[in-house]
Amino acid sequence: MKELEVYKDFSLKGYNTFGIDARADRFIALRSTDEYVDLLSSGVLDDGRFFILGGGSNVVFSDKYQGTVVHPANKGVSLIGQEGSRCFVEAGAGEVWADFVDSCISQGWYGLENLAAIPGCVGASPVQNVGAYGKEAKDVIWRVDCFDIANGAEHWIDAADCGFDYRWSNFKGEWKNRFIIDRVVFRLDSAFTPNLSYKALSEALAARNISQPTARQLADTVAAVRDSKLPNPQDIGSAGSFFKNPIVGKTQFDELKAKYPDIVAFPLPTGDFKLAAGWMIERCGWKGRSMGRVGVYEKQALVLVNRNGCSGQEVRRLANAIIANVETHFGIRLDCEAIFVDG
Ligand code: FAD
Ligand code: EPU
Repeated sequence: MKELEVYKDFSLKGYNTFGIDARADRFIALRSTDEYVDLLSSGVLDDGRFFILGGGSNVVFSDKYQGTVVHPANKGVSLIGQEGSRCFVEAGAGEVWADFVDSCISQGWYGLENLAAIPGCVGASPVQNVGAYGKEAKDVIWRVDCFDIANGAEHWIDAADCGFDYRWSNFKGEWKNRFIIDRVVFRLDSAFTPNLSYKALSEALAARNISQPTARQLADTVAAVRDSKLPNPQDIGSAGSFFKNPIVGKTQFDELKAKYPDIVAFPLPTGDFKLAAGWMIERCGWKGRSMGRVGVYEKQALVLVNRNGCSGQEVRRLANAIIANVETHFGIRLDCEAIFVDG
């Protein structure tokens, strides 16, 4: 086996967008598929104390991670097949998602425009089925290539078997810590069809006098809308939306609507309703407030932000206070989208 570089007592501050100053006992970056094979045959992960870390944009670390942080960093984007206008594009887990989206548009491989400018890496895109502005990763993922951590076996998992749902997949559920994703294959299209289903996006295009956007214009407009309400991790630490938007049945929605006529909700094809958690949090008076060194973003109440060197414990305290308050007010228990990684 080749020697992998193992960094000891490694600072994770630059490896999580919340900017939490945590440390890991060990840190290993994987730069090629061979290094995945080397790591899994080395026995280093056999004690089960490991965490797979992509770009760290959906995680909250405690001060110390007593185990091995594995960071997939393998790059590479290639067209591996074409059927008519369909393009099958493979990307390494360590590709930066936003750059990958940009490069696909430059190559004339379309379908990712609405998912422009989401932080993080390609390898994490199937994990919570990233979504934004009317599109989800599941709409474009064809296959996920990964290794079984227990025995090193390679698996190519079809999208249909990944259990994709709203901010969810088997990788976040029953397969958690079972697979490490090495590459993702996307099914894109050489013909561009804009998806303008998200109201805030179509309004932003109209404000720019664009009725038939090019793929680049669409992605740029998505990025501008995002900029107007989400903090840029380079300036303000966060994990994006901290909570998921809760889904309720029609009866519960009707009761809420009767009590709060201006409640914001979106009907789903299932007949259920997705409630805007940001509206509920704002309504409880949290928007712009702080608790110690962590706060609720003033432009988007769903986003918790690092005010000045906050700890993971402070983030948890604020999240719990918000969950309790929203539950008392609305009878709805919010689920965290962000993942707490404890020591
Ligand atoms: P990490 O945060 O490092 O990890 C997330 C999870 O994936 C962890 O459980 C980790 O163990 C697992 N994981 C990561 N890589 C692998 C791998 N190779 N193999 C197996 N498991 C792996 N999300 C959205 O869906 N839509 C948005 O619009 C959005 N906007 C955001 C805006 C901001 C400002 C921020 C900070 C975050 C936002 N997010 C959004 C959340 C985040 O960007 C996504 O969840 C992203 O996919 C996380 O990627 P990552 O590489 O940073 O993963
Ligand atoms: N709203 C408020 N107050 C707020 C925030 C939102 O009243 O402070 C209401 C407004 O009525 C607004 C509505 O909620 O119109 C929806 O807000 P927004 O369009 O900002 O979307 P969101 O539901 O808050 C979700 C995703 C985002 C994604 C956007 C766009 C979740 C948990 N979040 O946010 O994803 O970018 O839609 O599709 O589903 C993420 O997952 O990290 C993330 C940023």
